[in-house]
Amino acid sequence: TSDMAVICRRGCQSVKKYREQKERRLAQDKHWELGGTKLGNILGIKRKDVKEEQVEDIDYKKSQKFADHMQAKTDAVSDFALKRTVQQQRQFLPIFAIRQDLLNIIRENNIIVCVGETGSGKTTQMTQYLHESGYTERGMIGCTQPRRVAAMSVAKRVSEEMNCKLGEEVGYAIRFEDCTSEKTIIKYMTDGILLRESLTEPDLDHYSAVIMDEAHERSLNTDVLFGLLREVVARRQDLKLIVTSATMDAEKFSDFFGNVPIFIIPGRTFPVDTLFSKNVVEDYVDAAVKQTMQIHLGGGDERLADLDGAKPLSVLPIYSQLPSDLQAKIFQKAPDGIRKCIVATNIAETSLTVDGIIYVVDSGYCKLKVFNPRIGMDALQVYPVSQANANQRMGRAGRTGPGQCFRLYTERNYREELLKTNVPEIQRTNLANVVLLLKSLGVQDLLQFHFMDPPPQDNLMNSMYQLWILGALDNTGVLTTLGRQMVEFPLDPALSKMLISSVEMGCSTEILIIVSMLSVPSIFFRPKGKEEESDAKREKFQVPESDHLTFLNVYIQWKKNGYSTNWCNDHYVHGKAMRKVREVRQQLKDIMDTQKLDVRSCGTNWDTVRKCVCAAYFHQAARLKGIGEYVNLRTGMPCHLHPTSALFGCGFTPDYIVYHELVMTTKEYMQCVTCVDGQWLAELGPMFFSIKDSIKSRGERRRKEDNEKLTMEEEMRIAEEKFKRIKEEA
Ligand code: CDP
Ligand code: MG
Repeated sequence: TSDMAVICRRGCQSVKKYREQKERRLAQDKHWELGGTKLGNILGIKRKDVKEEQVEDIDYKKSQKFADHMQAKTDAVSDFALKRTVQQQRQFLPIFAIRQDLLNIIRENNIIVCVGETGSGKTTQMTQYLHESGYTERGMIGCTQPRRVAAMSVAKRVSEEMNCKLGEEVGYAIRFEDCTSEKTIIKYMTDGILLRESLTEPDLDHYSAVIMDEAHERSLNTDVLFGLLREVVARRQDLKLIVTSATMDAEKFSDFFGNVPIFIIPGRTFPVDTLFSKNVVEDYVDAAVKQTMQIHLGGGDERLADLDGAKPLSVLPIYSQLPSDLQAKIFQKAPDGIRKCIVATNIAETSLTVDGIIYVVDSGYCKLKVFNPRIGMDALQVYPVSQANANQRMGRAGRTGPGQCFRLYTERNYREELLKTNVPEIQRTNLANVVLLLKSLGVQDLLQFHFMDPPPQDNLMNSMYQLWILGALDNTGVLTTLGRQMVEFPLDPALSKMLISSVEMGCSTEILIIVSMLSVPSIFFRPKGKEEESDAKREKFQVPESDHLTFLNVYIQWKKNGYSTNWCNDHYVHGKAMRKVREVRQQLKDIMDTQKLDVRSCGTNWDTVRKCVCAAYFHQAARLKGIGEYVNLRTGMPCHLHPTSALFGCGFTPDYIVYHELVMTTKEYMQCVTCVDGQWLAELGPMFFSIKDSIKSRGERRRKEDNEKLTMEEEMRIAEEKFKRIKEEA
């Protein structure tokens, strides 16, 4: 049982206390069952008592005996015993009590919406229930996650529960990492992966059931999948679709899919005391650290000074880019007498469940990707959370016992300033990738696509404009040959374009490496205390006119040294990241091979490589203004070289550069920069630049750009109308 596991781990709780806890929990369970019945009745779902037969297939009686046996042996806990309890933990999850009802309602309906508290067992159990009742005989069970970390960690957990090797019966797939095999019957994946799969298999024939998990997150890809899957289920009567949500947005989901049943898993939560800050907090990081220390030291401010006698605190971060071995640490048991403190992004709101959390400190902020019209692209920025986020965060403290939640904002902030729910990603980010994907799926008229919450027309038009600039769409909004090729790559449109252009320009060997390097975060590391040494090593790789070429150089050196890990360590290069780069390179190369795109090297003629970068990034160009200071050629906005750039402080200050992305910290920094020729800009981006451009005022150029955009929009509208007419006539 889950209680058991806690006892085993702590190894010191008395049996009496355990019994008391269990009784209390059982009493609460009854209460919740009643609640569940009531809700179930309202929604037309009949709740039955747990039947003997469904209990039998998990061998409840035997495991109860085992639990009793374990109870007597809490002192001597072996690894083996801990493993056995995993099976019993399954039966103590709230979802277990309604297992048969859930399976019945799935059997009777093609689509259902399923709501349950975080930790009730939706993600880990539903796939297994479907498997246990035979669905995998007809195809795979797919379960989508908006986050990579969740897909990986949940798959690992379920493979343990099913006692198989990860990647065999239970596997996962995220971008550039496919951990599945012929044997796989339960597949966890990011929503982006399923979206891409629908490109080659529009009816998702490999699946007998798809669970769209964490639908309340409303990630961009989930929202697009909503529209697509609605159609797929209409075409395929044998496909089951289950949409899960941790919160009560269920009505909306149900409406969208045609009034489908909502199934509610009776929750099992404990009360959480919520405390608001009395005053507005100025520095939430500082406040969060102080609050945490106060909790840890168990007293008021004055105790802060008294750190000597404090018990050790194990501080563990969790965020999506963290290497997976470090991520796993948050789930591991802390050594006896040490308290765990997990510092998390909003990934911990609903995607990951860590047992035994008693306190939550909520900063009231999260990072969101939002389209920023000033810079003309998405930027990751800090925004206040919504009330829905805040309540999820609070809930994390009440899973295994009563808890406390400290909100670092005032009650008034909460009531009057926080939005009720999040703005879905589709309404706030760049849609270029989505447009490309939908167009290639044959959705001509995007304004007519069935979105749950349609994106603002401006967003859609901007994204189409961006694709038009890159040559992926023609004047009438139809996918070009280039656009069709771009869709094949799981990359941002500009990167795909760079890769495809490189074939004709004769430098695809080099660009393939550069694109792969750009697809993996943090190649270099800079350990504390060794800053100078690592900077010096890094400088040795630098090609003064380009960060892109610097990346290329690193890879070539690594390859020359037999892809050695020691070489990486010696040069302050992340070995693991480099191995990933190599994998990504291979995967992209495979796609190039199937697309019959040649991989050819330009040898030492690296100017060609720079020109190729320019061919895909001319819309992100800047002109020199002062030392290290540039102005964006399109927006006129000042922007700066990042201190880690090869061009920074190297004495060489080119007139024109293009950049891979902008990061906004204290200033607008351009990251990954390459020096380009003014001529190239005119040649490759004629819609923006001409040779005489320099004498034109910026305002004039803006007007030209706006006019162009209007013309394009007009042409697209005409084309769309034409298309509609043809459709109607047909
Ligand atoms: O999806 P939902 O939030 O309803 O729950 P879940 O993710 O299926 O988690 C159910 C239980 O499985 C949690 O309470 C954890 O005890 C356990 N779990 C785990 O130990 N490790 C994971 N990576 C995921 C879940
Ligand atoms: Mg879940």
